[in-house]
Amino acid sequence: MENPIRLTCKSVAEAVPEIASVLQQYPLSYGQGVETAIDEAAYLVSFVAGLPPDFNASHRQFLLDDSMREHMQTVLSKRIFSRTPLAYLLGETWLAGYKFYVNEYVLIPRSPIAFMIAQGFSPWLPRQQPIKRILDLCTGSGCLGILSAIQYPEAIVDITDIDHQALQVASRNIELHGLEKRINAVVSDVYAQLPSQQYDIIIANPPYVPVSGQSVLPSEFSHEPKHALFAGEDGLDIAKRIIFGASQFLDPQGVLILEVGQAAEDLQTSFPQHHFLWQELEYGGEGVCVLTRDECNNITE
Ligand SMILES: C[S@@+](CC[C@H](N)C(=O)[O-])C[C@H]1O[C@@H](n2cnc3c(N)ncnc32)[C@H](O)[C@@H]1O
Repeated sequence: MENPIRLTCKSVAEAVPEIASVLQQYPLSYGQGVETAIDEAAYLVSFVAGLPPDFNASHRQFLLDDSMREHMQTVLSKRIFSRTPLAYLLGETWLAGYKFYVNEYVLIPRSPIAFMIAQGFSPWLPRQQPIKRILDLCTGSGCLGILSAIQYPEAIVDITDIDHQALQVASRNIELHGLEKRINAVVSDVYAQLPSQQYDIIIANPPYVPVSGQSVLPSEFSHEPKHALFAGEDGLDIAKRIIFGASQFLDPQGVLILEVGQAAEDLQTSFPQHHFLWQELEYGGEGVCVLTRDECNNITE
């Protein structure tokens, strides 16, 4: 069948608004790492033209040839008619300034924890505290563990996921960032297969969407692995296991950084005796809390 998407743009400057306007003609959903049609258009153009994703004014006159237009038309057609997120079509995405490979076995990286890592978890961790060991649970593409290893060059980072295919993607990303010597990937059902160890920081962005939410999510999300999104009736099955097990794996001064998104209210309701502190997230997102080892120890069913 002939591709109904036809582009006429001749330069980067023309391509971004033309592609954005094509995207806007269809009921697409964003929010899997790219927030708007214009951002998505810029990302596609930069990828196809071989430019940096944050290309500047000097790149605007970059000329596009027929094969580049063809490539963009093909990607756009799949994006629009199969509702596949752009990151899966390109095989990569960017988070907090770093590139990550992705495929259908991993959630597209977008966790606001990435920006907390870049700020050294200020004010939760005093800067003078040496961070030696970090655990990233439910790592998916490995993005948060990798960003942690970059932020803390002295630290050893363990990353875990129940899905060995996700860990294959994580391993590719570890290689991409040259971190093979400091990041260990372990297949584990939360803590179950993890050797006994005490960590300064445990990071977790587990699945936290209630199963009932499946029917209302836009089609784009059906391309992500179900076990990366959904976790029981209230979305908190995995998050609760992470909290209950954390004290055994945290250093006495260590902290758990846990994302539960829109399930934050339900988490608070589940444990009324504990007052959760939800982070102000400068770059968007919601439902990230920080818990000390003692707090994790005191939160029980
Ligand atoms: C929301 S994704 C997060 C991925 C990554 N941390 C990120 O921020 O992009 C959740 C991940 O948890 C993994 N997962 C689901 N159930 C798990 C379990 N019981 N134990 C360990 N990992 C699990 C999924 O395979 C998926 O990669």
